[in-house]
Amino acid sequence: MTKLSVKGIDKSFGDIVALHAVSFALEGREFLSLLGPSGCGKTTTLRLIAGFDRPDAGEILLDGKDILRVPPEKRHIGFVFQNYALFPHMSVTKNIAYGIRFNRHIDRKRRVGDLLELVGLRGFERRKPAELSAGQRQRVALARALAPTPQLLLLDEPLSALDAKLRESLRTQIRRIQRELRLSTIYVTHDQEEASSIADQVVLMKQGLLQQVDTARKLYDEPVNFFVADFLGVPPINKLYGTMLDGSFRFRDSEVCCEFPLRRAVQNGTDVIMAVRPESVIVPAGERKLKSLVLERYSIGKDELSLLSIEGQHMRAYISGDYPIHIGDPMEFSLKKKGVFLFDANTGERLS
Ligand SMILES: Nc1ncnc2c1ncn2[C@@H]1O[C@H](COP(=O)(O)OP(=O)(O)OP(=O)(O)O)[C@@H](O)[C@H]1O
Ligand SMILES: [Mg+2]
Repeated sequence: MTKLSVKGIDKSFGDIVALHAVSFALEGREFLSLLGPSGCGKTTTLRLIAGFDRPDAGEILLDGKDILRVPPEKRHIGFVFQNYALFPHMSVTKNIAYGIRFNRHIDRKRRVGDLLELVGLRGFERRKPAELSAGQRQRVALARALAPTPQLLLLDEPLSALDAKLRESLRTQIRRIQRELRLSTIYVTHDQEEASSIADQVVLMKQGLLQQVDTARKLYDEPVNFFVADFLGVPPINKLYGTMLDGSFRFRDSEVCCEFPLRRAVQNGTDVIMAVRPESVIVPAGERKLKSLVLERYSIGKDELSLLSIEGQHMRAYISGDYPIHIGDPMEFSLKKKGVFLFDANTGERLS
């Protein structure tokens, strides 16, 4: 049961600040996902934990012990890289056994057999990487990382080269293996759906800065800032632009206002964004009504999504296919409390 704690990590490459003051913790046996757009510092974070690079400042503790002076091979950390690199001239068996080839205390044959079983590749022992599919290669890379029984497993976008169906199936297998081995795991991805479906906790990053650490549900329901609200959600959260007027949101190019419970006083004239989840629209409208025009309706599987125009701005809303509206109709609606947020348009600070 390995606990990891990353405290106040800074890392720069020349003038590029890759990470600044990054802190998070992983409880034992937990599956944590590092999520964020390309270049936000995910791989850099994993490399520091694995020991391939040194941070400029901060601490990394494994079960309470500072590991910064421990060389990578003595950290007992398994790593599956972003671009998996198997040894092309070696068989599946040899690839998997690579990390334990000098270890006399392990029954290597048995261990490789167990791992082949675990990743579902019995019968593939003698094949070379070129004779495997991409998904099979990725499972060999996983088995190779698991061979020395690591305390902590780091996976850097292990499935990004695979098609959607295979990704989903391998994702489920990785989760099962992690549970079976009770392994503390960090899984890097830039795909929010992947992170949400696999992780106990998600660490969301942007440009080297940690934004929020929470369950995927919490990130979606209670984003700490605009970036988090906008990063999670398909279709994305609606953005309606306006300014503050006497504690209310006033639509841009319109006199229409919308009241909000604010966390702090906000100056008149501040540029703000009302962010609305597509499922937070209520029809028929309740007491507080907003007026819109129905521009389009389309079905996505079981859901019916409508494109609305409100005070000259567009938003998408889930509205039941049974609701009697047509393209071109005016429609009144109300907003739920849940899934509706007010943000400062310049700083991204959450105001409501
Ligand atoms: N060795 C290096 N030298 C210079 N800059 C680097 C180096 N490694 C990373 N960087 C920079 O640090 C930042 C973070 O890079 P990192 O590889 O950690 O991003 P990432 O989140 O893994 O992105 P991706 O999703 O594209 O893999 C980027 O701006 C990148 O250009
Ligand atoms: Mg990366």
